[in-house]
Amino acid sequence: MIYILNLLLWGIISAKGAPVHDCIGEQCRNIISVPLIDEMKATLKADLDVSKLNSVLHKYILEEVTKAVKVSFDVQMEKAVDEIHGNVTKLMQSDIKTKFDILQDESFKGNTFVRWGRQSCDGTLSSLVYKGYMAGPTHKAQGSGSNYLCLTSNPQAGDVPADWVYSPGLLYGIGWELTGTDRSKSLDHIDDKDVPCAVCLTKGKTTLMIPGRTSCYAEWAKEYTGFLVSSRNEKGFVTTEYVCADEDPEFYGSQNYNHGLIHFVEVKCGSIPCSKYEDKTKLSCVVCSK
Ligand SMILES: *[C@@H]1O[C@H](CO)[C@@H](O)[C@H](O)[C@H]1NC(C)=O
Repeated sequence: MIYILNLLLWGIISAKGAPVHDCIGEQCRNIISVPLIDEMKATLKADLDVSKLNSVLHKYILEEVTKAVKVSFDVQMEKAVDEIHGNVTKLMQSDIKTKFDILQDESFKGNTFVRWGRQSCDGTLSSLVYKGYMAGPTHKAQGSGSNYLCLTSNPQAGDVPADWVYSPGLLYGIGWELTGTDRSKSLDHIDDKDVPCAVCLTKGKTTLMIPGRTSCYAEWAKEYTGFLVSSRNEKGFVTTEYVCADEDPEFYGSQNYNHGLIHFVEVKCGSIPCSKYEDKTKLSCVVCSK
């Protein structure tokens, strides 16, 4: 074993390209001494010229080293490519996850609805955005809007050009008009007093008012139930939209202005099947979210 190691060592040293000279004994670089009877510690030994062997070894070692380096390089490259692939995949995944989280966040931002007739969202599944006054056209209007607004109780005025003086639309507060008796002075009755409203933010993505129901369909959550209201059906009265007033209504003010008015709504059956809706049924409604 010692011989072979020696040979290898010499091979590596001579691979540096030292010229081969004729030489004798232990002074000679290309000659190695080999003990012949090693175990006996005898002095008998042979000097072998290994210069030829060295060049063969040189070539062999170069080839092996090249092979080893090549294999190791391939392995390293493979590792690096794997790592880059892993990193890029991780980056893409985290990018996709971030975008997905943003989308999911946005999709859970919810929706809003107006709770007509109440000034809070208490008892609903939603949180208050703002409260205000139910507003719309006066009951005999022949213009202006037909939809109802929840006019904020916390207004901010914008700048308006001085020459805007021509023929405005008009917005009025809306009063309950349900019994036909002036109850504006009655402490425990909403009638002839003004209608508040609240804008509520749902946890669900969408909201829906269903006329003619007091509960929601499967997989929808109830926000509030109530009764359908609109302007009255009478000659000379303004046309408005139908909205759902809370079943447990509140009021503000105690003066009977008779500006805009909301009335309960009845079904006229016929086109609407009388088997489903008896004539003059006062319509219920429910606001649902999902
Ligand atoms: C891969 O990502 C790790 C951790 O962020 C980093 O240390 C390494 O340098 C990256 N490798 C490459 C090849 O970009």
